[in-house]
Amino acid sequence: MTSKFQILCVSSLFFFFLAVSSAQANVFHGGEKVFDVRNYGARGDGKRDNAFAFKKAWNDACQWSGGRSTVYIPAGIFYLNQITFTGPCKSYIAFTITGTLLAPLSLSAIRQEEWIAFEYVDNLTVTGGGLLDGQGSYSWRLNDCNKNPNCPVLDMNIGFRFVRSSRINGIRSLNSKMGHFNLFSVENFNITGVTITAPGDSPNTDGIKIGRSKDMHISNVTIGTGDDCIAILDGNTNLEISNVRCGPGHGISVGSLGRNKDEKNVEGLTVRDSVFNGTNNGLRIKTWAKSVSQTLLSKFLYENIQMINVGNPIVIDQQYCPNGLCESNGKYNSHVQIKDVKYNNIWGTSTTRAALNIQCSKTFPCQDVKLSNINLVYKGRDGLVTALCENVGGSVLGKIVPGDCRI
Ligand SMILES: *[C@@H]1O[C@H](CO)[C@@H](O)[C@H](O)[C@H]1NC(C)=O
Ligand SMILES: *[C@@H]1O[C@H](CO)[C@@H](O)[C@H](O)[C@H]1NC(C)=O
Ligand SMILES: *[C@@H]1O[C@H](CO)[C@@H](O)[C@H](O)[C@H]1NC(C)=O
Ligand SMILES: *[C@@H]1O[C@H](CO)[C@@H](O)[C@H](O)[C@H]1NC(C)=O
Repeated sequence: MTSKFQILCVSSLFFFFLAVSSAQANVFHGGEKVFDVRNYGARGDGKRDNAFAFKKAWNDACQWSGGRSTVYIPAGIFYLNQITFTGPCKSYIAFTITGTLLAPLSLSAIRQEEWIAFEYVDNLTVTGGGLLDGQGSYSWRLNDCNKNPNCPVLDMNIGFRFVRSSRINGIRSLNSKMGHFNLFSVENFNITGVTITAPGDSPNTDGIKIGRSKDMHISNVTIGTGDDCIAILDGNTNLEISNVRCGPGHGISVGSLGRNKDEKNVEGLTVRDSVFNGTNNGLRIKTWAKSVSQTLLSKFLYENIQMINVGNPIVIDQQYCPNGLCESNGKYNSHVQIKDVKYNNIWGTSTTRAALNIQCSKTFPCQDVKLSNINLVYKGRDGLVTALCENVGGSVLGKIVPGDCRI
């Protein structure tokens, strides 16, 4: 390292080492070297752009080879236009957000997929209890994706690409312009203690979006947004999701899949010990009827899930067609094969009659769907709860309400 050491001899027994780098005085704390963004010119005044200061702090922390390092953002409101933190770094690195990071209102300020991005980093911890405020409420009205397939793509709050052996613990995310957390090609990656919030009617504000990733654990998270609480896209392997409080929102979804070419299989998904409250879907798998990819979705387990006033608590839709933006219903059959999906111990209330709605592809019927201990009650007055099951192979065990699913 390039900094000079001053040795202060305070007594004959104790030496205090004070590292004074040429420009910044960063401190050691519990064996970690802390790179405080204030020492790089960052100001928590909610106005000035801090991207340059954050980048310099990151670069020094990332290149620090003397042990673990921490980029530290103290209390305050730190305005940030857009930023990408790139690795690889020399050692374990933490990014500790204590205060608030404030996104620009203007859409033109952000010219990348996410407002804040991390890429090519290993052994990263993002933590601190701080808040990412995407200020999305100003741009949601510009989102016309429900009627315009070429709608403007707004940025997501935070993204992780090619990041391994890392975790996010104790971060809050508010009002993203589009989705909140975007994970692409991450590996051995955990998310805990995260709270994600946007209004139930905000467009495309997915909570956590995951693609092409493996060995992930998500637990103890609270997500209420205007879109999927968690969206699992193609190419994911071995995802463990537990203790999720989801609502409002569109539930935990696999898909939509099948529409784009070169999609990869999804293998190994567990969702357990979670509560859906007031969501318009619960556990959902959605594939487009007209598919160009022939993929396999397999080894899914949904277990110990409570539904409170949920529309479509259990749904497989292989004729997925939102907002009528596709060709005539029933003309095509999905080429996505769904296999080995277990639903065990799922109970609560449904706001739609078809609480159990499993509609698989005519050409690739679902295989090995196992239903056990399901008790869903319809909340409306216009009839009794029903099950709709088509093209489903598998078995039923224990008590199932609604019980009229033909498997
Ligand atoms: C990251 O951690 C892994 C073990 O999880 C280790 O093999 C690797 O060397 C670490 N990388 C860095 C940059 O510290
Ligand atoms: C993620 O959590 C799992 C299960 O608790 C643990 O085995 C793994 O080491 C964790 N990985 C990281 C990077 O924290
Ligand atoms: C769950 O996360 C919250 C923060 O959202 C935290 O305060 C709490 O301690 C966590 N609970 C467990 C059991 O880890
Ligand atoms: C479900 O959501 C409603 C409305 O937000 C809330 O009043 C209720 O406490 C929630 N129930 C549970 C069990 O979280």
